[in-house]
Amino acid sequence: MSPSDFTPRVFSGIQPSGDLHLGNYLGAIKRFVSMQEDAYETVYCMVDLHAITVWQDPAALRHNTRELAAGFIASGISPEKSILINQSQVPEHAQLAWIFNCVARMGWMKRMTQFKDKAGKNAEAASLGLFGYPALMAADILVYHATHVPVGDDQKQHLELTRDIATKFNHDYGVDFFPLTEPVIKGAATRVMSLRDGAKKMSKSDPSDASRINMTDDADTIAKKIRKAKTDPHALPSEAAGLEDRPEARNLVNIYAALNDQTVEAVLAEVGGQQFGTFKPLLAELAVAKLSPISQEMARLMADPAEIDRILARGAGQAREITVPILEKTYEIVGMVR
Ligand code: TYM
Repeated sequence: MSPSDFTPRVFSGIQPSGDLHLGNYLGAIKRFVSMQEDAYETVYCMVDLHAITVWQDPAALRHNTRELAAGFIASGISPEKSILINQSQVPEHAQLAWIFNCVARMGWMKRMTQFKDKAGKNAEAASLGLFGYPALMAADILVYHATHVPVGDDQKQHLELTRDIATKFNHDYGVDFFPLTEPVIKGAATRVMSLRDGAKKMSKSDPSDASRINMTDDADTIAKKIRKAKTDPHALPSEAAGLEDRPEARNLVNIYAALNDQTVEAVLAEVGGQQFGTFKPLLAELAVAKLSPISQEMARLMADPAEIDRILARGAGQAREITVPILEKTYEIVGMVR
């Protein structure tokens, strides 16, 4: 079955494992908001079960989950238009993940580059959950029969695995039950790079705070980080081809384009020929103008955590109207007595 045979439905998630950063915002959340306005049902998720695949302090996890919900809402995700949930409040994710643990093959999981990156040199000490993580991610998506998943470039391999799991399940049981979900990896900011090193992804696990812009940074901090961002000594080119061997320059132009909803070509048509001494203040001004209202709204929402909890409880109820029947049908297909 192709995704067009299913209700057009978007699912995506973010880990509540620390501050949201500009990569999450441009690569994911901003896209979530635009898909919410299109002809899809949209489900967006704080993936707390994924977060605990590495150690999380319980109080920090609770805080970060609420803060991530505030970040979603402050960025424009409306609990009226989208279903907003915390993963552990919708138990069918974990239940379907078990079935998928029995579908996915060891060899597939061993090829996951994110596991290798995250487990590092001491893979023996990594949690079993970190290894099984992509099967839970496939369950997150398929327990909604989601047809489209907007993500940054780093999640591509996990989405290919999701399709492999759906294909094998459908084949093994002789059904056309799970859709082959389409990854949606588009725009100028599918891979926002570190401000300190254009070869490294912007990430919450980078020990240098100067490498990323956090959604909670104030205006001065944002401006300072951009001023200090690594660049090269040349002026900006007038065409995209001129950015090819210039990862730091390309990153800053990509960020500008994504923040301002422009193409890279349109940005370069305006700023081509400028030195970084001129371009960086423009970028800082744009970043502050776009991000400050979001961080202020996040702070306002965080002043009333009970309201966030109410929104998540309502979201879980709406989500389960979708997930309970899909899980029940899955159990029936597999042969479980109910
Ligand atoms: P996570 O929490 O690491 O990141 C959340 C989203 O942000 C994107 N992203 C970036 N995009 C551009 N540039 C960057 N530097 C950058 N860093 C992060 C990620 O691609 C992602 O879209 N496994 C997922 C969470 C997840 C999920 C899912 C996503 C769990 N279940 C089901 C989609 C569908 C993760 O760890 O994302």
